[in-house]
Amino acid sequence: MKAIACIKYGSPDVLQLKEVEKPTPRHNEVLIKIHAASVTAADGMMRTGTPLFGRLFMGLLKPKYPITGTGFAGVVEAVGKDTTLFKKGDSVFGESIFGFGTNAEYVCVPEDGMLATKPNNMTYEEAASVCDGALTSLSFLKDIGQIQSGQRVLINGASGSLGSTAVQIANYFGAEVTGVCSDANVEMVRSLGAKEVVDYTKVDFTQSEKTYDIVYDTIGKSSFSRCKGILTKNGVYLSPVLGLPLLLQMIYTSPTNGKKAKFSATGLRPQSDLRELLNELIKLIEEGKLTSIIDRRYTLHQTADAHRYVEKGHKRGNVVLTM
Ligand SMILES: NC(=O)c1ccc[n+]([C@@H]2O[C@H](COP(=O)([O-])OP(=O)(O)OC[C@H]3O[C@@H](n4cnc5c(N)ncnc54)[C@H](OP(=O)(O)O)[C@@H]3O)[C@@H](O)[C@H]2O)c1
Repeated sequence: MKAIACIKYGSPDVLQLKEVEKPTPRHNEVLIKIHAASVTAADGMMRTGTPLFGRLFMGLLKPKYPITGTGFAGVVEAVGKDTTLFKKGDSVFGESIFGFGTNAEYVCVPEDGMLATKPNNMTYEEAASVCDGALTSLSFLKDIGQIQSGQRVLINGASGSLGSTAVQIANYFGAEVTGVCSDANVEMVRSLGAKEVVDYTKVDFTQSEKTYDIVYDTIGKSSFSRCKGILTKNGVYLSPVLGLPLLLQMIYTSPTNGKKAKFSATGLRPQSDLRELLNELIKLIEEGKLTSIIDRRYTLHQTADAHRYVEKGHKRGNVVLTM
């Protein structure tokens, strides 16, 4: 089968289209013919091996898993002898968190991993992106930020993968949402449920007169120190982008009352928690309360171009490979 191999860390040029052996499902695995795979900001970090501490999981000197990609959607082509949950022909989607390998024509994943039946009201392209933006934002807003109805929530980077789903999720929980994005995305962010939208090219949201119970900085371009002034007394600054300052702020605000800074690595949460979040997302999708925005589509041959586009940091929602 055709697959994208990454055998050393580096620029998108290290990604190579290769002919590799089609995988065979082990006893507890299903073999999926991939229809669409996501290309995410996190994929770029896995390709470059940054931040360096990430190499503890990804391989110290070169990628431990040579085929790139984690998000996928497709059709079950074969099942291992001990599987009971899926059968040949099922439309599925999910995330190959620890094995990567979804930038390929086929992938094998354990049936009790991050694998679920694809909602009928979603395309394969839309479903392939759910476990990046939506899963992360649900984990951050609901579990880490403990979002409550009636709270004021500000989402920085509201037009990205995490941000566009965060706006919809915060809105679903009954929060009053302010989205921060550029002029080009104002209408989209408003249509996803933001009551107010701030254009970051004209206004510095950290200087706002308003206060927020949660500031969810999906792109990590601000900081806890800069947002302290716009947090309510017990407000929380959440960011999925870890740096040393955020780590230190998390440590010193954690035992105290008052404003807090929080980070979490969603993929490292227990599988049972992630599966619960995934089931919740499926319900929201089926009820028409959550959609995935698709910005661009690339073929497998164009994976390096997809990485070049994503790493510019200006995608609207998600980028996918279609097989
Ligand atoms: N911790 C975790 O578990 C976890 C999980 C998944 C992802 N992540 C991380 O989360 C981060 C966000 O990922 P993502 O895919 O959502 O990002 P993204 O889609 O690349 O975000 C791009 C969006 O941000 C907007 N933007 C760029 N600069 C901005 C600024 N200064 N102010 C406000 N908006 C700005 C862009 O809009 P314009 O074009 O209008 O500028 C664009 O729509 C990545 O670093 C990723 O690695 C962490």
